[in-house]
Amino acid sequence: MQSPAKILVIDDDSEIRYSLERVLSARQYAVSAASSGEEGIEQAEQESFEAIFLDNRMQGMSGMEALQHLRSVAPNAMIILMTAFGTTQTAIEAMKFGAFDYIIKPFDIKKVLSLVERAVQAHRDLVDSATEHYSPLLNSEDYKEGIVGDSDPMQEVFKMIGQVATSDVTVMVTGESGTGKELIARCIWQHSLRAKKAFIAVNCAAIPDNLIESELFGHEKGAFTGATNQRTGKFELCDGGTLFLDEIGDMALPTQTKILRALQEGEIQRVGGEKVIKVDVRLIAATNKNLERMVEEKTFREDLYYRLNVMRIRMPSLRDRLSDVPALVDFMLQRLRKDRKTRVRRVSAEGLEWLTSYPWPGNVRELENTVQRCAVVAQGDTILTKDLPKEIIDFVAARRPESDLVEGPSENKKLSSSSPVEPLADDVSPALEPAVSEPDAFVGGLDSELDCEGLLDRLYSKLRENVDSNLLEELEREMIRRVIAETEGNQVKASQLLGITRATLRKRLSQYEIRY
Ligand SMILES: Nc1ncnc2c1ncn2[C@@H]1O[C@H](COP(=O)(O)OP(=O)(O)OP(=O)(O)O)[C@@H](O)[C@H]1O
Ligand SMILES: [Mg+2]
Repeated sequence: MQSPAKILVIDDDSEIRYSLERVLSARQYAVSAASSGEEGIEQAEQESFEAIFLDNRMQGMSGMEALQHLRSVAPNAMIILMTAFGTTQTAIEAMKFGAFDYIIKPFDIKKVLSLVERAVQAHRDLVDSATEHYSPLLNSEDYKEGIVGDSDPMQEVFKMIGQVATSDVTVMVTGESGTGKELIARCIWQHSLRAKKAFIAVNCAAIPDNLIESELFGHEKGAFTGATNQRTGKFELCDGGTLFLDEIGDMALPTQTKILRALQEGEIQRVGGEKVIKVDVRLIAATNKNLERMVEEKTFREDLYYRLNVMRIRMPSLRDRLSDVPALVDFMLQRLRKDRKTRVRRVSAEGLEWLTSYPWPGNVRELENTVQRCAVVAQGDTILTKDLPKEIIDFVAARRPESDLVEGPSENKKLSSSSPVEPLADDVSPALEPAVSEPDAFVGGLDSELDCEGLLDRLYSKLRENVDSNLLEELEREMIRRVIAETEGNQVKASQLLGITRATLRKRLSQYEIRY
């Protein structure tokens, strides 16, 4: 038998707490109560609740404030805001901050019960779908390295790392911006015999030419105007360790000469100094420039090029390994969650399909920024297509067939099989799918308008809440109104579509005062 659903009531009014406790306990719910937002949040942190009744107006923390906290400490709890005044403003705010629903005081017991029933069911659906479908692509152990990539090109990169890590050879990492060159450099260092010694990264492009030598080799006091003290350079500081020279293609020729000497002879001189200092540094260099061309154009020293290019790791562009996108997204979301920067757990299946079809000119860095931005705008715990940046929406829209574009790209308007948007790349194993194949409907308990089952559930409970409100009539009126609009007042077509005779249609049109 299922254990009783746990409900938390947060209200500073003891009468409300008492009456809700009484009503709900009588229906076998396990009810807890808190008399302030702060207390409620504390309880929700310690225990998980299926549903939380939250008063909007309380002494101290307001309901709306508490709602936002609760959404992050108890993302799966269905929160029902209780308000004395049913203003549109409150309703919009409550829903915007992820409330399941709101109820106006004083309340009708029947309404409360039906709302709780619905909330508990929505919670179960959410949790079930999460446990059924949400299995992280990899567990956190697999992400320990902080580098994600199952695709063939990334597997090649990992193999190379394994080959070069424990030798002391100089490694050159090339690839477009944002492909993970620095990440790979750090990974090589972590797996090297020098792992316990320093890793220092210097971005050559960020330091002006006249300062780079001092930065790398240090200077003696008085070496140049402004050199008021002796300074130790990165080569010296990094003795025994690994120096990562990023954007090495941006380095001036004289500095290149000195680097070559440091590599070949293992010695440096501080700027303005006579003394030769022995250094033992392993160098890893990176660039997104075409060094071969630079050598041809004589802007990069050929001898340094060969000295650096002992081992070369070419980072694949993300568009050449789009099958890694789902795992990267999952990894990024896990990391954001760990840092408590988001409550988002996943991307909808369609959203992920879109992300996996985009060519990512800024590579993994761009994907990372996108995921961060989407995690901020997503309302529930799932990123939907509407949360994606405009450039992705436009990209997908441009590749859709005309007929799909009538109302622009929308969630649940699944890409047809003839859609030119590429499906997930073949090498994503089906085992990866469940993490993203969850319907988009359960977002913080809010039903997507287009989710039929959710819609029917809502309608049904509305019907039960308002038995005498002629819901069927309301439905019929709305349906006829829409069909008449769609058929532009053509009664023959409309009656066909509705499945009623023309006479009945006419009767209804006058009964509901629908005109076209
Ligand atoms: N395979 C990967 N797995 C996880 N995160 C990655 C991966 N590749 C890159 N990243 C992340 O993407 C961002 C960019 O990576 P990184 O700085 O290493 O790129 P880069 O090639 O050095 O870029 P640039 O040329 O612009 O300096 C970083 O935040 C990094 O953690
Ligand atoms: Mg970099």
